Amino acid sequence: MQIAVRIGIVTVSDRASRGEYEDLGGPAIRQYLQEVLSHDWVPVSQIISDDRSLIEAELIRMSDQEGCCLIITTGGTGPALRDVTPEATESVCEKMMPGFGELMRKVSLEKVPTAILSRQTAGIRGKSLIINLPGQPKAIRECLDAVFPAVPYCIDLIGGPRLETDASRIVAFRPRK
Ligand code: MTE
Repeated sequence: MQIAVRIGIVTVSDRASRGEYEDLGGPAIRQYLQEVLSHDWVPVSQIISDDRSLIEAELIRMSDQEGCCLIITTGGTGPALRDVTPEATESVCEKMMPGFGELMRKVSLEKVPTAILSRQTAGIRGKSLIINLPGQPKAIRECLDAVFPAVPYCIDLIGGPRLETDASRIVAFRPRK
């Protein structure tokens, strides 16, 4: 029997964590995954402030304790003083996956010139793939549509559960062995 697929969704925002701003990013990621994945999965959601040690602790908890095979963050990827999500991601990952950030910036630049301001990246901690997205809710779909075809195979390669997608939305690319 397949173990439950657990996916972490981390909103990184000072204002959302204080309740001054409705978290739109976390629900948008959840909605996206609901549309794209063709099997049951369990969301593990959290809203935290732009504090590097808090972000690191949350990513570690979702990977090591919650057993999330995929952890998606939104927010804190820009140049402002408080934007530290990529640094926190890098410090908890054993291996960086720079192609994710490169592709997401490429597709985002076709939509908005300020996409160049996002330092979003991705990396591997244990059996978890961590992907950073910008905070703008509309960026979530643009970025995930670009990289998601490669996500299931990446999770296969790190020993995670087999993710299946609705092929009418996203075709998961798995090279033949
Ligand atoms: N990427 C997409 N696809 N759409 C966007 O609207 N906003 C940009 C950029 N990437 C954006 C985007 C802007 S304005 C900023 S400042 C950076 O993401 C960083 O955003 P963050 O600090 O909320 O993560």
